[in-house]
Amino acid sequence: MRNVVLAVLVALIALVACSASGSSSMEQKQVATPGENIYKNQCVMCHGRKGDLNLSGAKDLTISTLSEEEMIAVVTHGRGGMIGYNMTLSQEQIKEVVNHVRTLHVVQ
Ligand code: HEC
Repeated sequence: MRNVVLAVLVALIALVACSASGSSSMEQKQVATPGENIYKNQCVMCHGRKGDLNLSGAKDLTISTLSEEEMIAVVTHGRGGMIGYNMTLSQEQIKEVVNHVRTLHVVQ
């Protein structure tokens, strides 16, 4: 009988530990801003995680001198080798991803 109680206790502790770690990993996901997630999904392949990959002629985002409005225009309508995202992203998402791009900036 004692063993059964012990087994149930162990199972309960394991369950609590599992759900606790589950919720903490969800919190970690919430720490990433929406803009960061969009950037990871849509922009990293050309600009790289830090913005300085410059693949296929992409501009180095860490030294970009564009204003926020100009960046929004480039991301919305595209320019040169970069496609516009007005079909893929909402205006709100474009703002969020541009905000993230601006955090990559070395000259704020
Ligand atoms: C297919 C590759 C590619 C992808 C994907 C891409 N870009 Fe670009 N990006 C470029 C290229 C190429 C340029 C340079 C355009 C030019 O020469 O006019 C550029 C330029 C820019 C610029 C202008 C920088 C400056 O200083 O002139 C910004 C801002 C920018 N990209 C942001 C983004 C964001 C945000 C995303 C994701 C939503 C993204 N890019 C996705 C290729 C890409």
